[in-house]
Amino acid sequence: MSDRIHSLSGYMYEYQKSVQDPESFWSRIADSFHWRKKWDKVVDWNFETPDVKWFVNGKLNITENILDRHLYTRGDQAAIIWEPNDPEEEHITLTYKELHAKVCQFANAIKAKGVCKGDRVIIYMPMVPEAAIAMLACARIGAIHSIVFAGFSANALSDRINDCKAKMVITSDGNFRGSKQIPVKEVVDEALKNCDSVESTIVLKRTGQDIQMTSGHDIWWHDVIEGVSSENKAEEMDSEDILFILYTSGSTGQPKGVVHTCGGYMIYTAYSFQNVFQYNQGDVYWCTADVGWITGHSYIVYGPLLAGATSIIFEGVPTFPDAGRFWAICDKHQVNQFYTAPTAIRALQAYGTEPIEPYKLDSLKVLGSVGEPINEEAWHWYHDHVGKGKCPIVDTWWQTETGGIMVSPLAGITPTKPAYATLPLPGVQLVILDNEGNELKGNSVEGNLCIKFPWPSMLRTTYGDHDRCKQTYFSTFPNHYFTGDGVKRDEDGYYRILGRVDDVINVSGHRMGTAEVENAINEHPKVVESAVVGYPHDIKGQGIYAFVICDMDGRTEEGLIKEIKETVTKIIGPIARPDKLQIVPGLPKTRSGKIMRRILRKIASGEGDNLGDISTLFNPEVVEAIKEGANR
Ligand code: PRX
Repeated sequence: MSDRIHSLSGYMYEYQKSVQDPESFWSRIADSFHWRKKWDKVVDWNFETPDVKWFVNGKLNITENILDRHLYTRGDQAAIIWEPNDPEEEHITLTYKELHAKVCQFANAIKAKGVCKGDRVIIYMPMVPEAAIAMLACARIGAIHSIVFAGFSANALSDRINDCKAKMVITSDGNFRGSKQIPVKEVVDEALKNCDSVESTIVLKRTGQDIQMTSGHDIWWHDVIEGVSSENKAEEMDSEDILFILYTSGSTGQPKGVVHTCGGYMIYTAYSFQNVFQYNQGDVYWCTADVGWITGHSYIVYGPLLAGATSIIFEGVPTFPDAGRFWAICDKHQVNQFYTAPTAIRALQAYGTEPIEPYKLDSLKVLGSVGEPINEEAWHWYHDHVGKGKCPIVDTWWQTETGGIMVSPLAGITPTKPAYATLPLPGVQLVILDNEGNELKGNSVEGNLCIKFPWPSMLRTTYGDHDRCKQTYFSTFPNHYFTGDGVKRDEDGYYRILGRVDDVINVSGHRMGTAEVENAINEHPKVVESAVVGYPHDIKGQGIYAFVICDMDGRTEEGLIKEIKETVTKIIGPIARPDKLQIVPGLPKTRSGKIMRRILRKIASGEGDNLGDISTLFNPEVVEAIKEGANR
């Protein structure tokens, strides 16, 4: 592809062009892809309804651009290198030719099981090559995949299955994670007790653990592909047909299914991948995310493979068998671009530099960060000890809803500043608005981060509930997409993300809605009311702090706290388990009965002595009691 930016002046030139004439800009980028039929119009949009279409009436299949297009130019090059959990187990390399054959075969297999264009397929799997094969097989036949992170509970899984009325679930028997072996199929079995739409489940044998296979419903992956052809003609898709649904947390209610479509997502993930990471042919690229999150979708699978890259998939965890595992993998596969989350960096930083010392890390050229603000200390540690002072760090800001990276340095091109995501990518028109919706122009301003013009990989709707999409993203500030993040534009025009301004917390780079956690806590029969807030956590970035009013009924606090935490694990999954749970006599409320979260946030952050005026509260007396019991 010829759309690589090579210099800062090149970036500025491209940025200007993308704003002055977005249609010619994106049409030029899209031209280098394979379309069955070109589009009639580049973009059609309004942010009121909202209704956004890119590459209108274009016809394509994204997997032809990922697989078929690369067969003659790089068929024997590694597309995926899979590094297993246990370093003693052999890694697996799949070339573009091999990946093509496997995707086509599995596509034929699921089609034969009755999955058709437009059907929803849930993927609930560990980090194995088959997860990517399953995604691409769905895309090949036009089925809509929805990956659920395999750490979510049966309850969370069944909610997602029911929301999108999935026809099939693709899973594994179990999952190796560090020294643990985790049941996966068992969770699916539990979830499916409450789901009517699922007709069959395909099960990959990974751990070999004992599981129950229900005849007529469950079928092994190796059986379903047996004797199936590796040739498949891809389904023709419209640019605006749905490629996938990915559930994510918001500030209210149940997680929502963010919808991404084929054409725009394809163009933007490939373009942003190449430019942010400055990927060169032959490089080995590794993103440590899980395919259950948007980062895994866009920057393990779609973006890199569209660009013909070699992408590593890692099954394990950073600390198994020891805290040098990431660095061992970097040396073993001669990784050139490494992309991880600040939480992982901080967790490894806690082990000191000793685990890094045995490794050379001399293949590394670019380091990436994603998912949450990276604090300056972690930034410097990453830069100095992992990058040996010579690798630019790309601090990439984006969201499930944006589909691709929106604000980031281009590696080696944009001068970096610790903790700054720096500048928007071409095509991304940011604005900062104050709470009344006035645009804050110029530099040295701080406010709500909004976007005023569509970009190709933006969400189109929330599955099954378009009004929710409108209310959540397009109503706070009319005619703007509202990100939910606060931002600062400094004296140089550089952007620094300040974190969420809504009731979403970011735990280890994973999004959690406070209402979602509260609902789970309230399921415990002894809970009367609860309020959840985020607080600064050394490793996770933010931790979950729950203030809970309970009917003690002669129970010990300790026992009850444990039970409530377990309820949350059961209902959502371990990632939502409160780090701190305090039983309180009451919650601070306004006279109209609204919980004053600002006060709880301060107490949770250890700033209880700095609460400001609380005299307008309906029940100021509870504040002292909460403060007394806090952070114990
Ligand atoms: O608050 C921002 C934070 O993560 C949120 C999006 O979360 P999610 O949809 O799960 O996607 C994460 C991976 C793209 C944002 O609203 N966030 C993401 N990247 C950064 C960030 N905060 C600061 N700096 C970043 N680089």
